[in-house]
Amino acid sequence: MKVVILNDAAAVAAYGADIFSKQLKQKPNSVLGLATGSTPIALYQELIARNKSNKLSFAQARSFNLDEYWGLAEDHPQSYRHFMNINLFDHIDIDKTNTQVPPGNAKDPRAACEQYERDIINAGGIDVQLLGIGRNGHIGFNEPSSSLASRTRIKTLTKETTDDNSRFFAAGEFQPQLSVTTGIGTILESKKIVLLATGASKAEAIKACVEGPITASCPASALQMHQDAVIIIDEAAATQLSDIDFYKHIEAENQKLEKMLEALE
Ligand code: PGA
Repeated sequence: MKVVILNDAAAVAAYGADIFSKQLKQKPNSVLGLATGSTPIALYQELIARNKSNKLSFAQARSFNLDEYWGLAEDHPQSYRHFMNINLFDHIDIDKTNTQVPPGNAKDPRAACEQYERDIINAGGIDVQLLGIGRNGHIGFNEPSSSLASRTRIKTLTKETTDDNSRFFAAGEFQPQLSVTTGIGTILESKKIVLLATGASKAEAIKACVEGPITASCPASALQMHQDAVIIIDEAAATQLSDIDFYKHIEAENQKLEKMLEALE
């Protein structure tokens, strides 16, 4: 697992956007795994800016989102489909029919979840999966105790998560307690994984993700099993890590190596 520690949230967004830009340049019809939450917004703004200035195209790309609330209509202002439209899809040249979000109100949720898994496989699998991380270490809506082999399914949200997300719902408004989320097993099949975290509130989860044991108590720790996972964080989210200097040293050496490899191209 590669840990990249940067000065601030803007640098985290730019570094993440570079990975997506590189991916789309190498493979314009890439399959992107996308995430919601506050953290990816700055990265999406960066991708929108690059798309508007014709530096980057999503015209041939496909996307699959990680999760959706269970029980909200697609056009509900708090649905993750709506979030993706207003924060990314409405502003780039992606064909919206090539964007998928897990089914939030299917008649037969089990069949719909199985179909979502098949759709990912039929698209060729996810090339790059973007992740945020919950304060409790969740990825997608895979809350602590989720099986590390889990697949797309309905998952009950923890009180911590519903409390964290209550800021988006008006007082008295229905807030779902259930979600549909791709599983940890699904996420681990992505070819590359990019996890972003910023701010001191994520420091404990990042410590458990990077340096803790692999455990269902911190779903993000499963990324230690992935051969190409990059954890991009700001200084505030890094404060509880024991080996900060080592991670910075590795990144400096990696940058040198990449320049050398680019010179060979
Ligand atoms: P946040 O959520 O980016 O809004 O902090 C991250 C997550 O819960 O995955």
